[in-house]
Amino acid sequence: MKELSGKVALVTGGTRGIGKAIALNLAKMGADVVVNYFKSRNAAEATLKELETVGSNAHAVRVNVGNYEKVPKIFDEIREKYGKLDILVSNAALGVFTSAINIDDKAWKLSMDTNARAFLHCVQLGKALMPDGSKVVALSSLGSSRHIDGYASIGASKAVIETLTRYFAYELAPRRINVNTVTGGFIDTDALKGFPNYQMMVDEVIRRTPFGRIGTTDEIADVVVFLCTEKASWITGQIIVVDGGYSLS
Ligand SMILES: NC(=O)c1ccc[n+]([C@@H]2O[C@H](COP(=O)([O-])OP(=O)(O)OC[C@H]3O[C@@H](n4cnc5c(N)ncnc54)[C@H](OP(=O)(O)O)[C@@H]3O)[C@@H](O)[C@H]2O)c1
Repeated sequence: MKELSGKVALVTGGTRGIGKAIALNLAKMGADVVVNYFKSRNAAEATLKELETVGSNAHAVRVNVGNYEKVPKIFDEIREKYGKLDILVSNAALGVFTSAINIDDKAWKLSMDTNARAFLHCVQLGKALMPDGSKVVALSSLGSSRHIDGYASIGASKAVIETLTRYFAYELAPRRINVNTVTGGFIDTDALKGFPNYQMMVDEVIRRTPFGRIGTTDEIADVVVFLCTEKASWITGQIIVVDGGYSLS
C-alpha cells in the first residue's frame, strides 16, 4: 500500500508546470488524481496519460476556475466518478503583468477571479465532498508580501489566498481538515516566461539565492505533497516558504 492509496486528489491547473509535478507526485504516492485545466488541451491529454501510466485512476476536467458559474462542474464530476475528495490543491493561476498604479478593472478581475476567488470557491464547494481529516493546499508566491516588478495584481490576489488559508484552517479544524499554503520562489515554468525582464530576473534570482540556482517544480511539489499526508497532521494555517533561501536577504 502506498501512503495515498485510496485517496482522491484534485489539482487545479494540474497539467503543466508546478501543478503537473504535484499531480504526478500525488499519483506516484497512490492517489487517484483529477487534473483541472482550461486552455491547454494537449497538455491535459499528455498529463492524463502520464498519470494513468503510474497507476492513477485519473480524470481531467476542463473548467475556467475564474468563472464562478463553471467551477461546480469540477465537483459534480468528482462526485459522480469518485464520490469524495480527500486532497484539494488550488494551484491554477493567471494574471496580467502590471504595476499597482496601472492595474485596470480587467487585470484586477482576472487575477482576483482566477487566483483568489477560485480558491475561495473550490474550498466552499469541495468541503461537502471532503471527509474529516482531508487536506487543502494552495499555491502562493513571494509577491504576496514583497515588491516584484510588474507583479502587483497577482501579488494582491496571492495575499488574499494567504489570508483565506488562515481563516479556512481555523474554520475547518473541527473536522480535522488541514489548510496550508506553499509560497514558492522563482521556478522556471511557462508562467515566468511572460515577465518583460525575464532573463534579468533569472540572473538576479540566481545571484541572490544562497544555493546559487533556481528551484525545480519537484522541489515545490514535494512540499505540497508532504502537506497532503498524515505526517503533516499538526501543520495548519501556515504559509510555508520554499525558495532556496531567496527571501532571507
Ligand atoms: N513559477 C513560479 O516561479 C512560481 C513561483 C511561486 C508560486 N507559483 C505558483 O505556482 C502555481 C503554478 O505556477 P506555474 O508556474 O506552474 O504556472 P504555469 O506554468 O503558468 O501553469 C499555470 C496552470 O494554471 C492553469 N490555469 C491558468 N488559468 C486557468 C483557469 N482560468 N482555469 C483553469 N486552469 C487555469 C493552466 O492551465 P491551462 O494552460 O490549461 O489554462 C496551467 O496548468 C501558481 O499558483 C503560481 O502562482 C509559481
